[in-house]
Amino acid sequence: MSKFFSGRHAALTPYTPGEQPQDKRYVKLNTNESPFPPSKGVMEAALRESGALQLYSDPTSAELTRKMAEILGVTPDMVLMTNGSDEVLNYAFMAFGDENHPMIFPDITYGFYPVYADLFHIPYEEKPLTDDFSIDPRDYIGAEKTIVIANPNAPTGRCLPLSVIEEIVKSNPDNIVLIDEAYVDFGGESAVPLTQKYDNLLVVGTFSKSRSMAGARLGFGVGNPAIIADLNTVKYSINPYNVNRMTAAAGVAALCDNDYYMQNCRIIMENRQWTAERLQELGFDVIPSTANFLFAKAPGLSGEKLYLGLKERGVLVRHFSAPRIRDYNRITIGTREQMEIFLAKTKEILEEAAK
Ligand SMILES: Cc1ncc(COP(=O)(O)O)c(C=O)c1O
Repeated sequence: MSKFFSGRHAALTPYTPGEQPQDKRYVKLNTNESPFPPSKGVMEAALRESGALQLYSDPTSAELTRKMAEILGVTPDMVLMTNGSDEVLNYAFMAFGDENHPMIFPDITYGFYPVYADLFHIPYEEKPLTDDFSIDPRDYIGAEKTIVIANPNAPTGRCLPLSVIEEIVKSNPDNIVLIDEAYVDFGGESAVPLTQKYDNLLVVGTFSKSRSMAGARLGFGVGNPAIIADLNTVKYSINPYNVNRMTAAAGVAALCDNDYYMQNCRIIMENRQWTAERLQELGFDVIPSTANFLFAKAPGLSGEKLYLGLKERGVLVRHFSAPRIRDYNRITIGTREQMEIFLAKTKEILEEAAK
């Protein structure tokens, strides 16, 4: 730490992103990216737009916002497009959390939530998931706090039904309820339609998972126009040109090619089912998932050993060292071929460990 670093941030523990190693080609199942490339239309749009990179992007991302609103069935003033969904989360924590608006979220969830809360000095409470890694809705119904829930949750993959989300939103009319739907396209139920009915609901989404654009950085928030206006106040105080030209053009093209992406989601869901069955045959405890990953515990082998054994064999999965989940690994669902390699290497490691 330099002597110049503000004392306000001295105690921060920053978020640790998943590994993106450059040393060799791995079967990469560690950061929940899509195994499928962007559509041809997306690649062409990005290339075309690269010819205008000398100009700033449209700070309102008007065309992209309009198209996104059309797909979601809301009006454009209910949508904010951002530089990945991390950016809209950042703005939301800044806009809606303070000592008068403390926050609650699960103890096992997306690791960025406590980081943002610490960064903005927002008091927060982490509500323990139940023993089977479910969210207990009673922790949130009538909580009278700013609520953040990833649905489906990460890294567990479990989801709450829309009826429960509605109960949580309805019972906290004086607080923002943020539902992070990064993984909703893999079998969850979106709360976006509820944004027409409740003025305290903010739904967050991303193009990083189902739409094969993690490297382009594109996310969005959907909510009542007043909530979106607040987020815009923060955005225009930090980074007005937040979505770059190539990404905005690629985003419009991705929405035009929606069928391609939704078909890819169906393939991933099939591969997820197939992989879960194979893992269960090997004796794994597999948490039911509605996301593009599985959270699973190997029989008689620590999560870290499996992670390291796989890495040595060219397969990357995600391991977290937090005590409640350190026996588990989060495995992104890739193509059938990738999952076959993952399973073959896993078998090898289990057989070696049993010797
Ligand atoms: C639950 C959840 N929300 C948000 C994000 C951030 O995604 P991005 O910033 O790429 O849109 C992630 C990334 O893994 C995530 O798991």
